[in-house]
Amino acid sequence: MKRFVPIAVLILAAAGAVGAGERPASEPYVPGFGEFMSATQVRHAKLWFAGDARNWELAAFELDEIKEGLEDATRLHPTHEGIPVAEMIKANLDAPLSALAKAIEAKDENGFTRAFDVLTAACNSCHTAAAHAFIKIKRPTTPPVSNQVFAPTGK
Ligand code: HEC
Repeated sequence: MKRFVPIAVLILAAAGAVGAGERPASEPYVPGFGEFMSATQVRHAKLWFAGDARNWELAAFELDEIKEGLEDATRLHPTHEGIPVAEMIKANLDAPLSALAKAIEAKDENGFTRAFDVLTAACNSCHTAAAHAFIKIKRPTTPPVSNQVFAPTGK
């Protein structure tokens, strides 16, 4: 989704559909803080299904995607609605994310499950601290998409 929107914007700009008063095509598209969160939500779910299937390569990839997305979010949005979200993301998620990386590296299924639940709790702690307690994340029960294989392939 992150890559799709700028393309749509470029097409609109090329067609001359971006009217006066709107963002000029030369200014880069900056996704809102909530859009980064939605992307994180999908990756959080994919991470679970990758780890659950012991697909450690995919789990490591999804974890990196979560980190990269959050890095972009904090760089582009040091604050959101007056809340210092960048600092809070670091304070809440650095430890859980590195615990997950260790469990994935060690191919430790129980460690992965524990670390995943700790991460999820940290997402929710931050939502509460950031006046968004009504956004509650949990372990997913169905894959977020049906067109991707989560089990390891070719082995
Ligand atoms: C700053 C601490 C913070 C952390 C850490 C955090 N969030 Fe958020 N999250 C927010 C805030 C603030 C919003 C509301 C954004 C808005 O106003 O659009 C939000 C919104 C969301 C939303 C709603 C998006 C939507 O548009 O429906 C989801 C889903 C979400 N977060 C998932 C997560 C997940 C998953 C994690 C953990 C991997 C996480 N968040 C970690 C602060 C945080």
